[in-house]
Amino acid sequence: MAGGSANWWQTGIIYQVYPRSFQDSNHDGVGDLRGIIQRLPYLVELGIDAIWLSPIFKSPMADFGYDIADYTDVDPLFGSLEDLDDLITEAHRYQLKVILDLVPNHTSDQHPWFVESRASRDNPKREWFIWREPAADGKPPNNWLSEFGGSGWEFDSNTNQYYYHTFLSAQPDLNWRNPAVRNAIHEVMRFWLRRGADGFRVDAVWYLIKDDQFRDNPLNPDFCPGGLPRDALIPFYTADLPEVHDAISGMRRVIDEFPNRVLLGEIYLPIERLVAYYGRDLEGVHFPYNFALLTAEWKARSLAGLIDNYEAALPAAGWPNWVLGNHDRPRLASRIGLDQARIAAMLLMTLRGTPTLYYGDEIGMQQVPIMPDQVRDPFEKNVPGIGIGRDGCRPPMQWDGSKSAGFSDVDPWLPVADNYQSENVVTFQEDKRSLYWLYRRLIEFRRKYAALTVGSYKPLVARGNLLLFCRELRDERMLIALNVGPEPISGPFLGSELSGHVLLSSFADREGEKVRGNIDLRGNEGLLVMVNPSDAV
Ligand code: GLC
Repeated sequence: MAGGSANWWQTGIIYQVYPRSFQDSNHDGVGDLRGIIQRLPYLVELGIDAIWLSPIFKSPMADFGYDIADYTDVDPLFGSLEDLDDLITEAHRYQLKVILDLVPNHTSDQHPWFVESRASRDNPKREWFIWREPAADGKPPNNWLSEFGGSGWEFDSNTNQYYYHTFLSAQPDLNWRNPAVRNAIHEVMRFWLRRGADGFRVDAVWYLIKDDQFRDNPLNPDFCPGGLPRDALIPFYTADLPEVHDAISGMRRVIDEFPNRVLLGEIYLPIERLVAYYGRDLEGVHFPYNFALLTAEWKARSLAGLIDNYEAALPAAGWPNWVLGNHDRPRLASRIGLDQARIAAMLLMTLRGTPTLYYGDEIGMQQVPIMPDQVRDPFEKNVPGIGIGRDGCRPPMQWDGSKSAGFSDVDPWLPVADNYQSENVVTFQEDKRSLYWLYRRLIEFRRKYAALTVGSYKPLVARGNLLLFCRELRDERMLIALNVGPEPISGPFLGSELSGHVLLSSFADREGEKVRGNIDLRGNEGLLVMVNPSDAV
């Protein structure tokens, strides 16, 4: 693809803001929209192109905003509709796009649609949710499980039926087989698109449609007792059903009513299933989030293998994307260590596809230990003690060394990391060798060299701890050499004729160095090398 014809969501970098934890402006220990507006200059300086906001809509906060009680209003905790309008206007003034979180699979049990739906069996909204008779013994209608532990069915004594919830019982699932539900969500989308939103990240989208015969899910033969309770069954009848693609293309048509907007899907599925979400004729999401790196074994061969599998599985013209962290998964820096977090930054910013950066990963924020009395995450509360808690990756952004890391002037809703006085935006900005500066340089290079955004990807070597690949657009060719281990690596990996110069070392001290034939990497070092145009790779 030529650089000129690419869309912003292809060449740009998305930055995920978890609004509760980014910046508090009204002294309640919870981040808010005004806080985000204050921090926009930081994001501009970092060089990102779009922000994705986790939900800021009216919500009782049973699942911290992923339980929505009004899709077209802002929760007072985060501010007002006017604040969101201002945020969109300000962001646009800085040339930043704003992606909102659309949560179409379920509402809050406080949403007026559900309040009506549960009022009586003949309420006009009854069929907006999934209601079933109890089994003969009064138990749930079938064996479907909630993602967050326990049965997926909740008994409602008012009407003596059960309703289905993929997540918490406070998050009843909408009935996406009902056209009225589709239309209502389409209207929600139009409401925000008209207000200037640049698109949506669609939550839990592979769960939208469930089996209309309500058949039991099969037992999972690989399930180990003590594991995640939901893994006891294979979600054959509750997720990734063929009809889901029709529901998604309906949303895509709404997006396409407006110029230049984007639809991104949250989908945790194996690559071969995941890529179906582009749609048969690319009429699905613009891209389904690719979470392969979140659980990748941090070895050159495994990384190369998963990149190759992904590249091979993509439909023609399906645009790739990569993610290192989000609000549901442990922090990268804790998973692979701070040394390798630099290599991961290089990988994220040099692979083919849109990178999404989770707030704080640019300063290597780590998991924050959460004491039992500090647990906020309902998933951890429902399924305690097996390490699935999501609070540890959601604490306040570490801005500076002042109280509460500059996030708030009162105690924040989750504890601030112990290391905040030394590890924060201000100290990192002062240190040109910091991870923050590595991100900035990488982002600058992505802007400068189209090979890194729209160029081809060519795997070269995955041996020992070396991962070597090439990005190429016309005569612009870059080699990316990553040492995923602590020992130095050296060798004639390029072929003796090949020459070039170092654009960037992850240690920020070899820029301009000539490279001829050999590549020499220190332990935990990554290099970006510009190849001389006359040499063939
Ligand atoms: C998505 C969100 C997660 C939320 C769940 C239910 O997976 O990322 O945070 O709990 O959906 O809405």
